Amino acid sequence: MRRLFLLSPLFLLLLGCERVQSTLYPAGPAAHRIATVSWFMIILFLVVIAIMWALIAIAVTKGKGTLEEHAPVDMGGGHGWVAIGGLMIPGLILFALFVIGLQLLASFPIHSHGDANLRPEILITGHQWWWEVHYLNADASKQATTANEIHIPSGRPVTIELKSADVIHSFWVPALHGKVDLIPGHPNFVRVEAAHPGVFHGTCAEYCGAQHGHMRLLVIAQPPAEYKAWLQGQRKPAQEPTSPEAQMGEQVFLTGPCSMCHSIRGTVAGGRVAPDLTHIASREYIAANSYRNNNANLEAWVTHAQSLKPEAQMPNLPDFDGQHLRALVAYLRQLQ
Ligand code: CUA
Repeated sequence: MRRLFLLSPLFLLLLGCERVQSTLYPAGPAAHRIATVSWFMIILFLVVIAIMWALIAIAVTKGKGTLEEHAPVDMGGGHGWVAIGGLMIPGLILFALFVIGLQLLASFPIHSHGDANLRPEILITGHQWWWEVHYLNADASKQATTANEIHIPSGRPVTIELKSADVIHSFWVPALHGKVDLIPGHPNFVRVEAAHPGVFHGTCAEYCGAQHGHMRLLVIAQPPAEYKAWLQGQRKPAQEPTSPEAQMGEQVFLTGPCSMCHSIRGTVAGGRVAPDLTHIASREYIAANSYRNNNANLEAWVTHAQSLKPEAQMPNLPDFDGQHLRALVAYLRQLQ
């Protein structure tokens, strides 16, 4: 019975509502346009399939006459059906969809680097396999860097510049917009707008290596005042550890291998090849949104990253003893 329920359309429907990562649950104007065309296509294809099955049913149940009365196609029979059903109708439908697709495409402005009024607020750089998120500002003190979790204000479009540090990736948050590629040496731009506050899951949509599937991201749309407060917090340097354990953890971080790749603003750790950890504790996930950000997963990530995400740049660091590992994680967990 339970198994039957798992296969039932009701369950699939519930699953669909549960998952925000779907083109059919749009939360912004660009995604709405895509969803409208998607629904149109789904309904159109369902109608075509229904007509096909109806014709098959008629042919099977009402079939009359012998082979002599209905000559096969190679003997000159049924040419009208082939021309109308096999060429004309599909041709018309495909042409109509082509025109609708072109129209949809034209409704998304293509920005190039030369546009004078193009003011990207966020620069996203794709890495194998994570997203570097840089909040741009002419005033360097108002810039901030984070990873994999992109906060935007709701209710207005935000222009995002997309770059790649290595191979081609694709930025895709189905509830908000269509796919836009991150191409090495060729910045792309996308306008993202969330009509209301919410958390939207996204993913890399272009195969980019072993951990392409673990290159996930979150877009968190907040009311403008809340967003402003969040951004102000992200601009600040890291919180000084207060507990003795976290202070010890800071020393482990700064004197060990971590600081060679990761940055923690306000400390000497200035590595640029791995995610900025200045406010890691404020993020919900680690490893490009592959695992929840908690003590157990952080300890596992530090010591056995290659088991959790094989071939990622993060090496296994199994040499920490229990005390040092706990201190290190205690330090990371208070970097709000
Ligand atoms: Cu990055 Cu697929």
